[in-house]
Amino acid sequence: MISKLNRRSFLGTTGAFIAGSLLASPLSAYALSKGNKIRVALAGTGVRGTSFWGRTLVNNYADILEFVGLCDINPGRLSYAASYMGVDCPGFTDFEEMIKTTSPDLVIVTTVDATHHQFIIKGLDMGCDVLTEKPLTTDEDKCQQILDAERRSNRKLIVGFNYRWSPYPTKIKELLQKGSIGRVTSVDFHWYLNTYHGASYFRRWHGLRQCSGTLWVHKATHHFDLLNWWLDSDPEEVFAYGDLEHYGASGPFSGDKCRTCPHKAECKFFWDITRDKRMMDLYVKNEHYDGYIRDNCLFRPEINIYDKMSAQIKYRDNTFVNYSLTTYSPFEGWRIAFNGMDGRLEAWLDIPWMKSDNISQSEMHKLEMSQEEEIRDTEPIIVHKLWEDYKKLDVKFPKGGHGGGDELLQDKVFRTPDQEDPFERAAGVRDGAMSILIGVAARKSIESGEQVRIAELTDLKPRVRRLS
Ligand SMILES: NC(=O)c1ccc[n+]([C@@H]2O[C@H](COP(=O)([O-])OP(=O)(O)OC[C@H]3O[C@@H](n4cnc5c(N)ncnc54)[C@H](O)[C@@H]3O)[C@@H](O)[C@H]2O)c1
Repeated sequence: MISKLNRRSFLGTTGAFIAGSLLASPLSAYALSKGNKIRVALAGTGVRGTSFWGRTLVNNYADILEFVGLCDINPGRLSYAASYMGVDCPGFTDFEEMIKTTSPDLVIVTTVDATHHQFIIKGLDMGCDVLTEKPLTTDEDKCQQILDAERRSNRKLIVGFNYRWSPYPTKIKELLQKGSIGRVTSVDFHWYLNTYHGASYFRRWHGLRQCSGTLWVHKATHHFDLLNWWLDSDPEEVFAYGDLEHYGASGPFSGDKCRTCPHKAECKFFWDITRDKRMMDLYVKNEHYDGYIRDNCLFRPEINIYDKMSAQIKYRDNTFVNYSLTTYSPFEGWRIAFNGMDGRLEAWLDIPWMKSDNISQSEMHKLEMSQEEEIRDTEPIIVHKLWEDYKKLDVKFPKGGHGGGDELLQDKVFRTPDQEDPFERAAGVRDGAMSILIGVAARKSIESGEQVRIAELTDLKPRVRRLS
């Protein structure tokens, strides 16, 4: 196992130990000999666990890692996961038993958001490094427990923020980092989820705040992490509005689940899960174990998250951000504008009338859900300096998920953890915490009608510069 201060090298005779500051990098370094692979255990064998952190790792990193255990509360999904991933390691419904039996080096957490903390804390306390999917967790108390566990452990905690690694966000980071528009003073950031992707969150556990922390946490953690990283400052205060008007009890009717719904013909959101073999194998065939209905009604009355959200965030360096998240847009995309002392930077992805090709929203959603590659060529960023004409930069997208970003993230974790990254894309516990705390603060602000200070949520104190 790998300790922060005294990393055990697995290296035999085949390679050199790669020196690097472990404390500076939030990622553990695994240096391996041929016969000594990283022992990986996976908690949560749903779609994300079995694909991005499952089969993809088996396909691309089998030379340096091996799965030694899989864990899920659903025994049916567990056995499907092993065959889908092509591994023959044992499956467990008890996480502690898995760790005791299989002694993994690294635990990957891909369970329901509100349960992440259990596996992160137990994993660290039982001597493993932990890589968790976003969001780090769903509220400030669990966040503090994770911060405490990370501090008392000598293991590493990695948060798998994949958006940072895509070439487009990376180019924005590079332009801001080199001062293309001077000091940034304010930002407009708007994210639009379409009626496929946006609606999908209301079909399952994401629609319950006790499971997902609402989309302020589950989804916006990605966006807040990008903001924190782009601005290189910590959030200080948040004021927010949110409401549920389109989905949940606001809907025109509701049914049991799409498969058996009497409103199939009239419901624009009807989704025939029986036509998707992977969804059937993963969820429908195993719903008798735990009652997890994947094609649940998005108008069911127990939905208690927001479907429209808007926030103002003040950063510690006095940058003001206007942010919004919509879940029933006719198209899926986002746009951002940074106002700087020397000019303005504008960026956007997938706004239909700003693209030369016509995108099918349902195809886009299929691609997103399959966790497979996306295909695009170049996308523009506008840099408009004060008193000058604007310049359009074309950002190239190599092949691969999120423009090759997914592969870069996994390479950083498993192959080149100590390689220097000028854009500081590796994310650790503080990044995970700061991004969810904006969402937690937004929730609290909606409930109280007042602005919420990030410093009051955990013992983390916002910094003018993130890494200082
Ligand atoms: N970074 C990204 O772009 C991205 C994309 C998709 C999902 N995710 C994250 O990945 C995680 C999993 O999402 P998903 O879409 O695969 O969900 P999912 O519902 O398909 O899978 C979750 C799995 O966790 C299991 N589970 C729930 N509670 C458990 C417990 N207490 N112990 C053990 N297993 C438990 C469920 O049975 C299920 O198999 C979530 O945290 C989500 O936010 C991230």
